[in-house]
Amino acid sequence: MRLASEYIGNQSDLFMIEGSKVLLVDDSPDIVEILSDFLCLNGCTVHTASTGRGGLEVLSREEVEIVILDINLPDVNGISLLDNIKINNPTIAVIMITGQHDPNFVVEAMKKGASDFLMKPFEFDKLMLTMMRVLRERELLVEKESFLHTLEDKKKIEMLNRELQNKIKELTTMYHISNKFNSLNIFDDVYDKMIHIISEVMEVQSCGYYIVDNDKNELILFKDNSNINEVINEKRIPLADNLPMDSFSSKRFFSIGRKLYLPLTIKGERIGFIMVNRKTNGTRKNAFPESDVFFLKLIAEKASTQIENRMLYESLFESVLHTLTSLISAINKRDSYTEGHCKRVTGSSLQLGRAIGLIDYEEDVIRVVGPIHDLGKIGVPDSILLKSGKLTDEEYQIMKDHSAYGEEILNRFEILSSEAKIIRHHHERFDGRGYPDTLPGEDIPRCARIIAVCDAYDAMTTNRPYRNALSRETALDEIKKCNGVQFDPDIANVFITMMSDEA
Ligand SMILES: [Fe+2]
Repeated sequence: MRLASEYIGNQSDLFMIEGSKVLLVDDSPDIVEILSDFLCLNGCTVHTASTGRGGLEVLSREEVEIVILDINLPDVNGISLLDNIKINNPTIAVIMITGQHDPNFVVEAMKKGASDFLMKPFEFDKLMLTMMRVLRERELLVEKESFLHTLEDKKKIEMLNRELQNKIKELTTMYHISNKFNSLNIFDDVYDKMIHIISEVMEVQSCGYYIVDNDKNELILFKDNSNINEVINEKRIPLADNLPMDSFSSKRFFSIGRKLYLPLTIKGERIGFIMVNRKTNGTRKNAFPESDVFFLKLIAEKASTQIENRMLYESLFESVLHTLTSLISAINKRDSYTEGHCKRVTGSSLQLGRAIGLIDYEEDVIRVVGPIHDLGKIGVPDSILLKSGKLTDEEYQIMKDHSAYGEEILNRFEILSSEAKIIRHHHERFDGRGYPDTLPGEDIPRCARIIAVCDAYDAMTTNRPYRNALSRETALDEIKKCNGVQFDPDIANVFITMMSDEA
């Protein structure tokens, strides 16, 4: 072996090993000194250790690229130290140095990941060449590791991205469901909307809502989605045979094949069942995806809340109507004409409304307003309300206040604000000369224009203390004369036809 000072590699060799971080592990101080000098002269950063433990200690705190490792160490076997190094950091290159050539040792060391062997004594040239090759190999290994890490990171990012996309889709669907239910108004058909929303967010072949017939112990189809392909043939499902009802108590839903049944509950009581028949989709199994069950439960919960609110509203509405009916009774006791008049006006207004083609909501408004449209008369004194002679201008003015007063009473019940408007305007005229607001034409709510015609006709055809009833023909002639002036011409024409047909 030449002295280290006698050998300095050429420029290209220097370039290759300069800057390398090397650990020398050898219990021979002479060899450590000579190799150390050689490597330092060639621009390497050199750490040294005389024992295996010392070498591991250096590796735990320093960054090292190559370990030059003597096989014979005082404390640990070189092979087990090699193993330890490679397990902790596979990219560290290990060059073994030994004084004896033992093929078994060579094979075992190669299996553990040794990069090369140097037999003592060795030339610096050989060490230089070995280091150059080992560094190049290590560089490739580091690149490969880095590439694998990048690939692994990429896979992780893709997986996270997929999870994120699924979460976004889930949240969007939840928002869609909540939004659809929140936008329902009190007159919308909740069951219809519920079925519609289910078919929007899930892949369904068919879906429907069943109510329970306790007497016959079966489910009866109440609503289904006619917009989707498959018509539900099972209009009635016997409970005992087809649906093991006990299963619902523990699971909250039950599935048979592609069909899933989920109960709709209000205050813990089942009021019906949603049935969803999932679309067949290639190799998919029959089981419902977890997300579908989750969305279905959310839909059932939202629908239950809406139905419960609706029931509360209807109960409140009934209670309010009952109160108003009591008020009307008070008027009837004073003026028997009003009772029969209100009933007749309600009946003919509904009939006229249907002939015109009112929507359900308007028909409901007429049903409520008709019987109480003269509610405000409760504020008119008997001396005026029951007066048999002609009213003075002042008295007439007080009588006219009944429409605005009726609205004022109804406005105290917030849920009847639409109905209150109709009461206010039931004495408006099409030419804008009515009261209380002199609204013209179609500015007058349609229900009020309908009631106005029926109200006037009934007043004309009923005996009053100050005049006898007019005949049907005379009254209809009067309506014709006032057509387009006092009354909406379209509505009045339908009324005239309707009454003429009845004659
Ligand atoms: Fe009136």
